[in-house]
Amino acid sequence: MTIRDHHTEATRRLGIAHPIVQGPFGGGLSTVALASTVSNLGGLGSYGAHQVPPDRIGETVAALRAHTTRPFALNLWVSDHDPGGEQLTGAEEARMRALFAPYFAELGIAQPPLPTRFHPSFAAQIEALLEARPPVFSFVFGIPEPRVLEECRRRHILTVGTATSIAEARALDEAGVDAIVATGAEAGGHRPCFLARSEDSLVGTLALVPLVVDRVRVPVIAAGGIADRRGVHAVLALGAGAAQLGTAFLACSESGTTEAHRSLLFGEASERTVLTRAFTGRLARGLVNRWTTELDARTSELAPFPAQSWFVSQLRAAAAAAGRTDVLSLWAGQIAPNLKHRTTTRLMTALLQEDS
Ligand SMILES: Cc1cc2nc3c(=O)[nH]c(=O)nc-3n(C[C@H](O)[C@H](O)[C@H](O)COP(=O)(O)O)c2cc1C
Repeated sequence: MTIRDHHTEATRRLGIAHPIVQGPFGGGLSTVALASTVSNLGGLGSYGAHQVPPDRIGETVAALRAHTTRPFALNLWVSDHDPGGEQLTGAEEARMRALFAPYFAELGIAQPPLPTRFHPSFAAQIEALLEARPPVFSFVFGIPEPRVLEECRRRHILTVGTATSIAEARALDEAGVDAIVATGAEAGGHRPCFLARSEDSLVGTLALVPLVVDRVRVPVIAAGGIADRRGVHAVLALGAGAAQLGTAFLACSESGTTEAHRSLLFGEASERTVLTRAFTGRLARGLVNRWTTELDARTSELAPFPAQSWFVSQLRAAAAAAGRTDVLSLWAGQIAPNLKHRTTTRLMTALLQEDS
């Protein structure tokens, strides 16, 4: 059966025509154009909103609604900080400023003062999301409290949680979510674990999907290492009800990343990815560059999430404007060397075409 005609309990619940989910991207890399194009082509488009302030969540959902009448997901991070990452002591701030000083100097920019918050509060974001009522609320790094899931059900917002292990999948299933993303260690972006250390949450997609499928009642969406029809067929054969692709959509022109990052994703540099805390303080997969090499050698000096993430993000605009890719977070999953398509429509068309 071709992918376009493969209807599952996941596609039925989510109200989508085809078993394809565009993975959400945080850090300003999601766009309304990307998510709405995927939804309009019969997949589930997603918008990563973990860094969107609560008072802008309503307008984000409204913009998505203005571009598609089909279902889409808004994505948040349930855990908005790690211990010690929300506030820095004077000594910690001084250490971070010293660590980052050479990079600010190289880019010719001053270090800004610390903000009152490094990251929006999930508690405030979720109230805004409930108010905005997106068709689907997907989340990572935990499980919202029962009241929130209950309120989602009452407001007809479908909930999709994310698991990196059997234990996390069981916990999500027991909490009553509508679907579970099982995300293997091949995936680009963070290890979105919440019950064990990231370093102990590295099961690959081929093992994780059937482990989860066999143990939960709800549909499973497979993520990690999927970029073409072979990958989608493989996870459907393992029992997943849909495939979630991240890196392949990130490389498309509609995503919010830079041209410099895209060209690396399509080049030889894509053959080397690494799991690193250099980008945000949480373990995440991206391309090896000077940034990951220099900061991974000093992991004990990095700040926990989100303080580390804030310092890195202060460099981003200047680095991007200067066309620099050596001091930028270059997110990528292990499947990047096989990327082929540069627009969302071409990627979706290729995924949905008849098998030859
Ligand atoms: C740059 C980047 C940012 C991401 N941000 C999020 C996020 O905020 N929330 C989330 O649920 N998943 C996030 N992900 C994971 C993707 O949605 C998707 O599950 C993953 O990329 C799939 O693996 P693949 O990259 O091998 O296709 C991110 C991935 C990337 C590459």
